[in-house]
Amino acid sequence: MRLRGERVTLRALEPADAAAGHRWITDPEVLAHLEVGAYPVSVLAEEEWYRQQAAALPAHPSSVAMGIEDETGRYIGNIGLHRINWRDGHAVLGILIGEKDRWDQGYGTEAIRVLLRWVFGRLRLHRVWLVVNENNHRVRRCYEKVGFVVEGRWRQHVFRDGRHVDQIIMGILAPEFTGSEPPRT
Ligand SMILES: CC(C)(COP(=O)(O)OP(=O)(O)OC[C@H]1O[C@@H](n2cnc3c(N)ncnc32)[C@H](O)[C@@H]1OP(=O)(O)O)[C@@H](O)C(=O)NCCC(=O)NCCS
Repeated sequence: MRLRGERVTLRALEPADAAAGHRWITDPEVLAHLEVGAYPVSVLAEEEWYRQQAAALPAHPSSVAMGIEDETGRYIGNIGLHRINWRDGHAVLGILIGEKDRWDQGYGTEAIRVLLRWVFGRLRLHRVWLVVNENNHRVRRCYEKVGFVVEGRWRQHVFRDGRHVDQIIMGILAPEFTGSEPPRT
C-alpha cells in the first residue's frame, strides 16, 4: 500500500533506506529540534531501526513509520505515528524531511496532509497531537497550515543551545481536518 498526494508519496520503509536515514540524523541542522540529537547514532543502530520498521506489523501497532518520496521518486524523509492509542483514538505525529534542499517547498505540509487523510479516514483515529520546540518556527508553521491548533505549553521543557526552551503542544481532531489550508491568522 502507498499513500499518494499530488507530489508526495508515503511508502513502507526498507532496510536500504538506512544510509540516507543515517546521513540525516548525523546532520546538526536536521537534528536541531529532534530528541535523537542528544547521542551519537551508529550506522548499525540506524540499520536495525530500519529493519524493525520493515518488519510485518500487528493489526494494532503502537507505531507506524513511512518513507516520504517526492514526485521524482526521491526518498526525502520519514513520517510516522507513535504512541497510538486504539481504544481512545489518538496518536502522536512525527516528521523529518532529511533532504534540506527540499525544505520550504511544501513537501512536509503535504506529507502531513496525506498521512492525516489516512489516519482519520481509514484508521478512524480521532485526535493527532505532538509537541514542538517553541523556536522550531518552520515545523510550527507546517502544522498550522494543516489545521493543528495550540493546546498548551510545557514550560522550559527542553535544554537547547545553553538555555531551557518551552515546548508547545499542538493537536487536530478528525472533524477539524479539511485537507486544505485554514485562513492565515
Ligand atoms: C520541519 C519540516 C518537517 C518542515 O518541512 P518542509 O517541507 O520544510 O515544510 P513546508 O515547506 O511544508 O512548510 C514550511 C513553512 O514554514 C515556513 N518557515 C520556514 N522557516 C520559517 C521561520 N524561521 N519562521 C516562520 N516560518 C518559517 C515556510 O515559509 C513555510 O510556510 P509557507 O508555506 O507559509 O511559506 C522539515 O523542515 C524538517 O524535517 N526539519 C528538521 C526536522 C524537524 O524539525 N522535524 C520536526 C520535529 S517536531
